[in-house]
Amino acid sequence: MSIHKEIKRVTTQSLEKLKKEGRKISMLTAYDYSMAKLIDGAGIDVILVGDSASNVMAGHETTLPITLDQMIYHATSVVRAVERALIVVDIPFGYYQGDSKLALTSAIRIMKESGAHAVKIEGGEEIKESIIRILSAGIPVMGHLGLTPQSIYKFGTYNVRAKEKEEALKVECEAELLQSLGCFSIVLEKIPASLADKVAKKLSIPVIGIGAGGGVDGQVLVMHDMLGINVDFNPRFIRKYANLHEVVNGAVKNYIADVKSGSFPNEKEQY
Ligand code: KIV
Repeated sequence: MSIHKEIKRVTTQSLEKLKKEGRKISMLTAYDYSMAKLIDGAGIDVILVGDSASNVMAGHETTLPITLDQMIYHATSVVRAVERALIVVDIPFGYYQGDSKLALTSAIRIMKESGAHAVKIEGGEEIKESIIRILSAGIPVMGHLGLTPQSIYKFGTYNVRAKEKEEALKVECEAELLQSLGCFSIVLEKIPASLADKVAKKLSIPVIGIGAGGGVDGQVLVMHDMLGINVDFNPRFIRKYANLHEVVNGAVKNYIADVKSGSFPNEKEQY
């Protein structure tokens, strides 16, 4: 008899079931083994190895510089830690746009080398061929519409998207397109709550929001934002569930003081 606790994996099918039952989906980003283990153990449904790693792990201003090899490194670390959550990995900028064969090669590398369960890519009509080709290899695809950070230089700002009728209609149509192509889920980022609500009601696949209000089927946040690690990033859609900046800063200050004063290590902390 196995002594291992049976852990039921979250799958793309279980997410669809959650939507059908009107139960919300929780999703957070993670980029390394230790944090992935913590959030998986806490019961998160989906872990996104986001290309936001470019910002929060590597300190770049945008998500554009991160490479496929770097994303696979982060994803591999996360996969080693996770027992329950569905793991989705962003295909980074430059590895799927304008070339569906490249898109498939990138997706296959992510799946084969990291052991993740699905990929996410940004965009609608313009990346249709890439989505079709990735799906044809049996790789689940999560879409991403609204504010798509890989296109930041086209938008010019990180302001709310689709406030105007024309762009709102484009989001609605492209969400339907992504569903019809076979995407298992869509992220809607930083668009009006009323629009996100409308899209979520229209689609049968789960719609996960970030800065898109409460009418969608689930929420995603960047882990560093919700844990209060970065004090300088405070858009209104982030709720901080901890103030790790203060906690870590205080702990490190205490450590420095103890080292300087010679009170660390004490007699019990040595051999
Ligand atoms: O890279 C990322 O963290 C994301 C989320 C903001 C959805 O794409």
